[in-house]
Amino acid sequence: MAALPTGMAAVVEHTFVVSQVNVTRLCKETLVTLVNGQLPGPAIEVTEGDSVVVHVVNRSPYNMTIHWHGVKQRLNCWADGVPMITQCPIMPSRNFTYRFNVAGQEGTLWWHAHVPCLRSTLHGALIIRPRHGAASYPFPKPDKEIPIVIGEWWDMDLAQLDRNTVNGVLVDVPTGSTINGKLGDLYNCSAASASEGAVEQEDGFVLEVESGKTYLLRLMNAALFSEYYLKIAGHTMTVVASDANYVKPYATAVVAIAPGETMDVLVAADAPPGRYYIAALAIQAPEPDVQVPLTITRGIVQYTTNVDDVPAPVMMPDMPNQHDTTGSFYFHGNLSSLRRHRVPARADEHMLVTLSLGSVCRDGGQSCARSDSDESIIVGTMNDVSFRAPTAAVVSLLEAHYYRRDDMAAAAGVELRALPDTPRRVFNFTDPAYIPYGPKEAPLEPTEKQTMVRRFRHGAVVEVVFQDTAVMQSDSNPMHLHGHDMFVLAHGLGNYDAARDVASYNLVDPPLKNTVVVPRLGWVAVRFVADNPGTWYIHCHFDFHLSMGMVAVFIVEDGSTVDTSLPPPPDDLPKCGSNKGGLDLPPVEFFYLQNEQSRETVPGK
Ligand code: C2O
Repeated sequence: MAALPTGMAAVVEHTFVVSQVNVTRLCKETLVTLVNGQLPGPAIEVTEGDSVVVHVVNRSPYNMTIHWHGVKQRLNCWADGVPMITQCPIMPSRNFTYRFNVAGQEGTLWWHAHVPCLRSTLHGALIIRPRHGAASYPFPKPDKEIPIVIGEWWDMDLAQLDRNTVNGVLVDVPTGSTINGKLGDLYNCSAASASEGAVEQEDGFVLEVESGKTYLLRLMNAALFSEYYLKIAGHTMTVVASDANYVKPYATAVVAIAPGETMDVLVAADAPPGRYYIAALAIQAPEPDVQVPLTITRGIVQYTTNVDDVPAPVMMPDMPNQHDTTGSFYFHGNLSSLRRHRVPARADEHMLVTLSLGSVCRDGGQSCARSDSDESIIVGTMNDVSFRAPTAAVVSLLEAHYYRRDDMAAAAGVELRALPDTPRRVFNFTDPAYIPYGPKEAPLEPTEKQTMVRRFRHGAVVEVVFQDTAVMQSDSNPMHLHGHDMFVLAHGLGNYDAARDVASYNLVDPPLKNTVVVPRLGWVAVRFVADNPGTWYIHCHFDFHLSMGMVAVFIVEDGSTVDTSLPPPPDDLPKCGSNKGGLDLPPVEFFYLQNEQSRETVPGK
């Protein structure tokens, strides 16, 4: 692949066989779903400008889609891989071939199944190198490049995990954390988290380095559950890219990385030869948030020089406190684009979107006990509405949008509602007094499930301020937008205040991200140009928040020319009509856009 003459686009072809495989961790076999039997799955390596062809062969019992996380999919929403939003899923024992180009992006992205929770074991790197070779990196050419996937090991069935989450049974926690699929020596068979020196330790990831060389670590967070801090004892890291966009080199002892994000970091092997732990620690909001057991994993960075004769102890980095959520805030605030941007000076659309939890009554009614009562189900919300995934359907949302099959509306199983531009409830969003379940937060809980969309005219400049709330919990929220990168203009703690905060917008060199971390009890302001027609998922990349409904769909209309309009779907796009018997979707009912225009309500009118 690397030997291609400059400027010649190649076709990079892979076959992904998705199947269930028994994997042994913690002395126990667990049946998991993998691509080609690998954990992490195969890395796709391309040169910017290449086309990618991936034949997905679904030998799993699940309806499957693969999402190419961060790939812009310009005029190619059909390949975005979101079940029922951009395509009907690939049924068990069926195949589908994804075809897309990777253009105008360099660095590290990744791919994952967009099937709730299954992405915990169905993911891999998507590495994009510059067209003119490694010599054209805007940083010193590394001697070696290493993908590093932070993940989680769950010894429970992941489909059950999703069902529990959807049903508001929020008791499951990961068994442990992993680096490149390995739990490392803090884990052994007798306990999930063992003390050092225990017998039968789990394998850990080992990175061999040579003194004096430089390594490009391509970090990805594929975990379902947590942001992570990553450190290497005795070494600093220089962040040079994030989400396949170059950033100004930023030297740091610790990297914070949220689910969905990638960070490319340079590490020089400039420490005294020896063995050093590389450790990843899950961040969690402090009490009064409900606490889960601390999870940490580690591998070893091992100098190839002189280590055999010196069995020196492995050096462990001093890890930040797991409750130190501000470390992530400052880390992300230190990212800026390597190049200046032409950030649109003003926005055509302004949205303030609260990210919160709420609840719906288990019996479908309006009144029930709240505050974590069994009578209600805790759900995730955007502007106080929780997304209802269109699972029972005959066409995807994108097909319905493309064909504008309004005549079929009578058969609807799903209605679309407009995502409001502002929260329905205005309160002191980040008041920590709302965190514990109880009388204070209860009135803020009642919500409903709706399939929420927000339409944008082609080319609209959209500004979104994501605002966290403290209702029932105070997690950060890594918000991921499909099909577009977002300029991250500013972030802050507490409540967003336009009068004060617009002045802090960085319109010169804001980082461009597909996943933006909304800090715990804080906000982020982003701008993006809605110039890629299609139906694009926008959601929190914590998988439990995704399953709980912290999701919406942004619909970008076609432009006025062929070049700005979505082409027809590929002929072999899977059909939902044949979905009967799919294990993870209920039997097919009907799904159409029931006279959607008339049902959309415009907030404030
Ligand atoms: Cu990486 Cu919609 O997800």
